[in-house]
Amino acid sequence: MSNYHIKHLEEYYQVYRKSVQNPEVFWEEIAEEHFMWRKKWDNVLSWDFTKPEVKWFEGAKLNITENCIDRHLHIRGDKTAIIFEPNNPEEEAQHISYHELHEKVCRFANVLKEQGIQKGDRVCIYLPMIPELAISVLACARIGAIHSVVFAGFSSTALATRINDATCKMVITSDGSYRGAKTIDLKGIVDEALTDCPCVESVLVAKRINTDIHMEQGRDHWLQPLLDEAYIDCVPEIMNAEDPLFILYTSGSTGKPKGMVHTTGGYMVYTAYTFKNVFQYKEEDVYWCTADIGWITGHSYIVYGPLCNGATTVMFEGVPSYPDFGRFWEIVEKHKVNQFYTAPTAIRALAKEGVEHLEKHDLSSIKVLGTVGEPINEEAWHWYDDNVGKRKAPIVDTWWQTETGGMMITPIPYATPTKPTYATLPFIGIQPALMDENGKEIKGNQVDGRLCIKFPWPSMARTIWGNHQRYKDTYFSAYENKYFTGDGALRDEVGYYRITGRVDDVIIVSGHNLGTAPIEDAINEHPAVAESAIVGFPHDVKGNALYGYVTLKETGEGRNHDNLRKEINQIITEQIGPIAKLDKIQFTSGLPKTRSGKIMRRILRKIAGKDTSNLGDTSTLLNPEVVQDIMDNAL
Ligand code: WTA
Repeated sequence: MSNYHIKHLEEYYQVYRKSVQNPEVFWEEIAEEHFMWRKKWDNVLSWDFTKPEVKWFEGAKLNITENCIDRHLHIRGDKTAIIFEPNNPEEEAQHISYHELHEKVCRFANVLKEQGIQKGDRVCIYLPMIPELAISVLACARIGAIHSVVFAGFSSTALATRINDATCKMVITSDGSYRGAKTIDLKGIVDEALTDCPCVESVLVAKRINTDIHMEQGRDHWLQPLLDEAYIDCVPEIMNAEDPLFILYTSGSTGKPKGMVHTTGGYMVYTAYTFKNVFQYKEEDVYWCTADIGWITGHSYIVYGPLCNGATTVMFEGVPSYPDFGRFWEIVEKHKVNQFYTAPTAIRALAKEGVEHLEKHDLSSIKVLGTVGEPINEEAWHWYDDNVGKRKAPIVDTWWQTETGGMMITPIPYATPTKPTYATLPFIGIQPALMDENGKEIKGNQVDGRLCIKFPWPSMARTIWGNHQRYKDTYFSAYENKYFTGDGALRDEVGYYRITGRVDDVIIVSGHNLGTAPIEDAINEHPAVAESAIVGFPHDVKGNALYGYVTLKETGEGRNHDNLRKEINQIITEQIGPIAKLDKIQFTSGLPKTRSGKIMRRILRKIAGKDTSNLGDTSTLLNPEVVQDIMDNAL
């Protein structure tokens, strides 16, 4: 039996048992048999959650791109590594073979070197979903530079914060991007961000939309001419297993975004192993994950996991609604996609459009359907199962996080019986625990609590860039000796997990994590605003939408509320990005506060969700009278 590929439920239980009883022996075997190392490790695992410090495969040397590309060249060099499906269906798709990918990554890596990028330097990548995005990620990894990909929907202010936090030396971007019928001036956003980023020495610009853009002399360089001149081979930098591979920012409930740091060896082993099993990937399969590489799902399951397995991975530039809501299904049919991985918000948006779009396309290639990003509601689950999978393709509801690097709780298709809305069982090596308010672990089944993980796994983030204390405070301080996820979960009678949602001030809107504090900070910058509070409320497509309670200063009173609403959303768009815009803005005479001055979000959440039957005890509030006022004027 190969532990690398699990096919049956009994096998899952057997391998799972081994992985938790003897984690070091287990992971050593997986790492040894399925990856290419330049030097083996001295020690499989050392860990201490109180520091916290976790090291996997210490002393080992490798380059992850040799595992993603080079080692495939002699067996599947002509196989397609990446299928690029452009925004416009009239434009031809590109098939990039492993040989071609090797050459492209090497050339790009040589350009980085010529521009003075060295091992350990940080490179910010702000690109749309075009091949250059995957290639630049791999080119950084090739030379040991740490990539920090910033989703190209973030605003210039958000981009600048991330560039400065990681002191990036270079930004890689494009002249612009296509998104459905729109074009976006990405380079303009970068120019604006860079007025505030002294650390950036150079900018590489890919051509995508062929617009006339400003090129800053001495700083900005068109990418293509440099690639054309670069040498076609690049010797990979040999990295330590624990060297950082990338930084990826995620929202916290407070403060600025957290730059999660992922290291090389453990991340590679875990993302590759989960990819193989959770998608049951076979050599001839075509796999498509609709996420953007700007998020962790794209890092782990468009780039690293699939390529480590020699897979064919689809990159889609566009949106599900362009030119119409049949686009996803057209792509599935066109490329005969076997594994399809998307988010509940996309499923709900597509379900709303009816099944006519599906019926026009042959979806019979689909063997596995995946979902990630937020809890999937029962209706969406069944719609996906009935109409896309035709009840023949198991749904893998995969729970994980930017911080975990790879999937943590998920079915293994064709092995684990699925159950709607349940992420089901912990993946191999993962030891979840549910905790009560007193910090005690809740044992047994049919219980719910806060979800923690008790034992390290290879792809966990090792720190927050530049702020290890915050890493400790956020994830390892709530419960002794455990990683705290920030999610609530329940465990049913057979031990299946269902994730019930965030228990902190992070709100997931259309699958994007948004912290309330940065949005409130943005709103409060409006000259007429005294203070504000943001909560989530249920939305049938986005999962949650944002509801803002805003108290105006005297100067703001009498102003036209619709104009104010527009201005507030404009500030949010500038500071964070359009994904953080508020659906509803209610102007209030005050915000309910505790006697210590803390805003009682619990009450605001209930009012926003139109669930005011039981507001709990409001008598201890500093200003109980505002509650009635807020209820009377609720939107
Ligand atoms: C939520 C995305 C329920 C959860 C990979 C988590 C989910 C946060 C699921 C991480 C799921 C993700 N079921 N909730 N299958 N997947 N989440 O960092 O709240 O963007 O903590 O990583 O999304 O979001 P992130």
